[in-house]
Amino acid sequence: MQRPWQAAVITLSDKGAAGLREDKSGPAIVERLKADGYEVVEAILLPDDQEKLASELIRLCDQLQLDLILTTGGTGFGPRDTTPEATLSVMTRNAPGIAEAIRAASLAITKHAMLSRAVSVIRGKTLIINLPGSPKACMESMDVFMDAIPHAMGLLRDEVRDCAQT
Ligand code: MTE
Repeated sequence: MQRPWQAAVITLSDKGAAGLREDKSGPAIVERLKADGYEVVEAILLPDDQEKLASELIRLCDQLQLDLILTTGGTGFGPRDTTPEATLSVMTRNAPGIAEAIRAASLAITKHAMLSRAVSVIRGKTLIINLPGSPKACMESMDVFMDAIPHAMGLLRDEVRDCAQT
């Protein structure tokens, strides 16, 4: 039997990290991943801090060698919204199609989807996907890519040889 995919979830929120707001998005993502059979190895709450996020991403990718990291929050236009910059700073290869698909599908739901600067990248064998901050936006985004990413994660592990197998 194949091992479960291993994932981490990182919430970026100044208010959440300061204890001023309950993080609802991180737990919602964790539940969704678990329902889909993922092993969620870590769930982390960080302030909107580009360097802290970059170092956590590097640790989770390089030391824990996770299959998937989902971030939530910090993708907008606010001065402290630096999740995409932190994510791009650690990538080894770009994987823009996932973020493009999320934005395209989300535009049918809300025009504000164009205000998400979220990116999707690869670091080593780990896929990293930024999600917007609200729990609703997170679930709508996961609806877009959850069926497609097992194939991507398999390819990163060299466990899927070509698209014809799936
Ligand atoms: N995408 C979906 N699917 N649903 C949403 O409600 N909200 C948007 C957008 N993407 C939204 C969405 C809004 S209002 C913003 S400002 C941006 O994501 C960025 O959100 P963030 O700053 O919380 O990361």
